[in-house]
Amino acid sequence: MASRAQRRSPSPHRLGVLISGRGSNLLAILDRIERGELDAAVALVICNVPGAPGVAAARARGVETLVLDHRRSPTREEHDRLMAEALERHGVQLVCLGGYMRLLSAEFVRRFEGRILNIHPSLLPAFPGMQAQKDALEHGVKISGCTVHFVDEGLDSGPIVLQEAVPVEDGDTWETLTLRILEKEHETYSRAIALFFSGRLRLAGRRVLGAGAPPRGPRRAR
Ligand code: GRF
Repeated sequence: MASRAQRRSPSPHRLGVLISGRGSNLLAILDRIERGELDAAVALVICNVPGAPGVAAARARGVETLVLDHRRSPTREEHDRLMAEALERHGVQLVCLGGYMRLLSAEFVRRFEGRILNIHPSLLPAFPGMQAQKDALEHGVKISGCTVHFVDEGLDSGPIVLQEAVPVEDGDTWETLTLRILEKEHETYSRAIALFFSGRLRLAGRRVLGAGAPPRGPRRAR
């Protein structure tokens, strides 16, 4: 069994989280880390929107934050280069987008190839974009949900790691459906991060394999 000191030592699985807003997914990740349910450490939070509530919330939890207002950089590439340098300085291995409301430059995606995850509030490829819950409700789907996927250069288009379904109820409004999906997001993101660091995931074309339950080993004789 690990000693208390070992249990307290920071995880080598270093995350960088990019946010633009309230950061509830970030906070859910921090909760699971604090409860010992996720072996990871948030090394840096970067936010592109000055004054976003997620920054104050992250600071209150003792997490290092960096506000990089994208309007201060002449190009997307320049802004993303500043982010990449900060993430690398902090030894970040996996970049998690948690409500980061900007497309990443091709250069950034290449620099962290296969090491960027995003969470999206629909069952992709249905309803990509900014209003996924509203679009799903208006379309009349009976089941929506959330998706964690690797990020490529497109919009919500990279290989899918995990999806979880959320049934749409007759009385649902945009707000109620958004809230139920968000609760599901909070569980699903940490599971995807744990899978990433487990080293089990592998890519076969667009398919991410290894995200299911680990294969059962042979039964041991008692
Ligand atoms: C979430 O619904 C996420 O799926 C989407 O943006 C929202 C961010 O919420 N990409 P929060 O900032 O994590 O609370």
